[in-house]
Amino acid sequence: MTDTAESGMGIEFPSLAPTSGPRQTTSTVKDALQQATVILRATADTPRLEAEVLLGYTLDVSRTALLTHPERPVARHQLAHYQNAVRRRSAGYPLPYLTGRVEFYGLTFDVTQEVLIPRPETETLVTLALARRPATIVDVGTGSGCIAVSLAVHLSEAALYAIEISPAALRVAQRNAQRHGVAQRVRTLVGDVLSPRPGPVDLIVSNPPYVPSGECGLLPASVRDYEPRLALDGGPDGLVMVRQLLEQAPAVLKPGGAMLIEIGADQGEAAQHLACTFFPHAAVHVHPDLAGRDRVLEVQT
Ligand SMILES: C[S@@+](CC[C@H](N)C(=O)[O-])C[C@H]1O[C@@H](n2cnc3c(N)ncnc32)[C@H](O)[C@@H]1O
Repeated sequence: MTDTAESGMGIEFPSLAPTSGPRQTTSTVKDALQQATVILRATADTPRLEAEVLLGYTLDVSRTALLTHPERPVARHQLAHYQNAVRRRSAGYPLPYLTGRVEFYGLTFDVTQEVLIPRPETETLVTLALARRPATIVDVGTGSGCIAVSLAVHLSEAALYAIEISPAALRVAQRNAQRHGVAQRVRTLVGDVLSPRPGPVDLIVSNPPYVPSGECGLLPASVRDYEPRLALDGGPDGLVMVRQLLEQAPAVLKPGGAMLIEIGADQGEAAQHLACTFFPHAAVHVHPDLAGRDRVLEVQT
């Protein structure tokens, strides 16, 4: 590799002998994958899978197509793009920001560095929300729109509001609502918690920033250095926005309405205590995620 080899990151692709022929290819799918897998082994939990995802993205083909045609040639310029992506990934840059896509609740979402990468544990909140079959919902801090759009796709009659303080993030949510054909039913609003006031609604859902400010620096580098601080930092105790949601909810909820709020694994007790303070007559529960850790605060008024 001469045209793309970079120094300074401690990552070297072995040089590849050009394969002969009129197309001037420099590699095959099989060779490119093998080399990338070795490089990604240092940083990725699933290096082969990530190598395949990145090559599929670079060549704009499915992983199945790669696996069924390992002899497929990879042109020099494609290889250069691929190697660049592999280097960035091996330096800690998150895979979904490289490909611009992520799977959540069985749907593909666009992501950019303006939004948090949707996490599997947030699917617990979506499952709990779907079980209630609400007709009107507001998602606060919508980010990529993964919660609001998943709910809209699975509740074909529901009307949703998606509020987000970052206009750039809200544009990503709008793209995702369009991509999944629910833009007509997901009304996006730039706002601060529940202002402008939507509703009234049956259900408030939110995955607020909930990392205590003092712990943001301790997050894994791939999170701390690349994901938006606005999406992570939940203030001194991590519960600032949870408090704001509980405080503002009565003005927005219909009688008998409910809230589902994602929380950190060690915030169950504190969140439950807060909810009982703001809603002394409500039924309050903390639900675990699939790993058994406290994850979703439910307030049934
Ligand atoms: C943890 S992220 C969740 C994003 C998305 N809902 C998800 O589950 O992947 C929190 C989001 O809340 C937004 N946010 C932070 N403070 C906010 C506020 N005061 N009002 C509205 N949104 C806020 C952030 O910009 C970020 O997009």
